[in-house]
Amino acid sequence: MKRTPVGVFDSGIGGLSILKALRAELPHEDFVYLADSGPHAPYGERDNAHVIERSRAITAHLRARYDIKALVIACNTATAAAIHLLRDEHPDLPIIGVEPALKPAVAHSRTRRIGVMATRSTLGSAKFCALVDSLVGQADFICQPCDGLADAIEREDTIKIIALCAYCTGAIGQFGTNDGQIDTLVLGCTHYPFASEHLRTLVGPYVRLIDNGEPVARQTHRMLKILASGDAPGECILLSTGDGASLRNAARHWLALECPVELALI
Ligand code: DGL
Repeated sequence: MKRTPVGVFDSGIGGLSILKALRAELPHEDFVYLADSGPHAPYGERDNAHVIERSRAITAHLRARYDIKALVIACNTATAAAIHLLRDEHPDLPIIGVEPALKPAVAHSRTRRIGVMATRSTLGSAKFCALVDSLVGQADFICQPCDGLADAIEREDTIKIIALCAYCTGAIGQFGTNDGQIDTLVLGCTHYPFASEHLRTLVGPYVRLIDNGEPVARQTHRMLKILASGDAPGECILLSTGDGASLRNAARHWLALECPVELALI
């Protein structure tokens, strides 16, 4: 890799849903993706101190080892816990975060009833509460913490994924496009787009599923001061702090990205 890459991280494979959109939006950019796995993940049911400590260590590593020109926190949980601290500590580095796509959901919803699936930590964060407060009166948000779902996706445990998706959508309420029904479902964790096939079966064909991949990719495009140029396709480096097999398989399956995974000792 000869150019300075954009760094991207998440607690595991979930941020690949963001990396996919980034590669489509910025095909000539190089990316280094770090999956924080093993004992460090998942983030969504851990305390803030852990997520902040990991976010700081990963940012320092990506800067020191790869000289990244921007950082995408491809994780709603880590964005809510740490983006303000990372921006304070790295004022020279453009940092882009991910938050549940409530504003696009309000723009799309006709019934004004919107389901939100996210980690317990994201839903309990001050950042998320402020986002909901900023939209008060515009829609009803029915928020469901999806304990265990990111982990089940990480482990490719299909039976558990289906059971948890069924439990969570059932707890949110009745989906559909009639008045009083929930016509929009926000996927507020970057892992959940990888369960969208199961969610679609549960909520029916007309409910809109909304994630943040494309808006985050466009925002990253806007914030990059120097864009890679030329015809050469961008390269990717994949890093994992745990067993790299699931990252390698997920990158191949979801992004058609064939790439070895290096161990990151952070
Ligand atoms: N994918 C992450 C998010 O968007 C976190 C999942 C987890 O580690 O619990 O919140």
